[in-house]
Amino acid sequence: MKLYIVGAGPGDPDLITVKGLKHLQEADVVLYADSLVNEELIAKAKPTAEVLKTAGMHLDEMVDTMVDRIKQGKKVVRVHTGDPAVYGAIMEQMVLLKKEGIGVEIVPGVSSVFAAAAAAEAELTIPDLTQTVILTRAEGRTPVPEFEKLRDLAKHHCTIALFLSATLTKKVVKELIDAGWSQETPVAVVYKASWPDQKIVRTTLENLDEDMRKNGIRKQAMILAGWALDANIHDKNYRSKLYDKTFTHGFRRGVES
Ligand SMILES: C[S@@+](CC[C@H](N)C(=O)[O-])C[C@H]1O[C@@H](n2cnc3c(N)ncnc32)[C@H](O)[C@@H]1O
Repeated sequence: MKLYIVGAGPGDPDLITVKGLKHLQEADVVLYADSLVNEELIAKAKPTAEVLKTAGMHLDEMVDTMVDRIKQGKKVVRVHTGDPAVYGAIMEQMVLLKKEGIGVEIVPGVSSVFAAAAAAEAELTIPDLTQTVILTRAEGRTPVPEFEKLRDLAKHHCTIALFLSATLTKKVVKELIDAGWSQETPVAVVYKASWPDQKIVRTTLENLDEDMRKNGIRKQAMILAGWALDANIHDKNYRSKLYDKTFTHGFRRGVES
């Protein structure tokens, strides 16, 4: 007995994986967060499938429903936005399901962080500039553990991807500046990455808060910050070792320079 947890991707229904779509099409019961998952994707379920919206349900209600249908021998698919492993609240579901002797199979999805990077035509790890991406959120109503405060994370001066932070930009700016980031640091905000009404706002740390307000962005936004987001990066001639003609690796012998 198991629940299928499927990553829906960031919005565009074509961005689900082939495997995820197969499970969705075979499902007898589909549960999805109606505020975040594209209805066009859910429409690909069988016409006979029971489709349940979870935005108005609390955890026990949702898990009780899953358990009930799974115990009836039905194939139940829980569709999560982006990738289920990032801010997906799947662990609490798995803990309760386990108590009922029900396991899970998780199918990953395209996280909004990568859909946002694609929309901004960005590489988040630029050789010689940064080789690290931190996925995090600003502290709001949900507390952040003591050792994960944004100003501490930002001391690494790498690329930072901020989920769930669209209404907290003042705080974001303050924390990054406190960590020593310059006011001119490039920031790309991608609202509704991969949806038809996607919007990309390129700004700087200094103007982030004002530009968010001007563009009316208060939710469903990915904030990508750091010099990897520099719109002029193409002129700066950063090169990876991988394709350097003098660099030898497992699949190619480099030539003497
Ligand atoms: C509860 S989290 C879920 C994240 C999801 N599991 C993922 O991998 O993208 C919701 C946050 O993800 C981000 N997000 C989700 N979909 C997005 C999209 N299409 N474009 C931009 N940001 C998105 C926003 O920061 C939003 O506040």
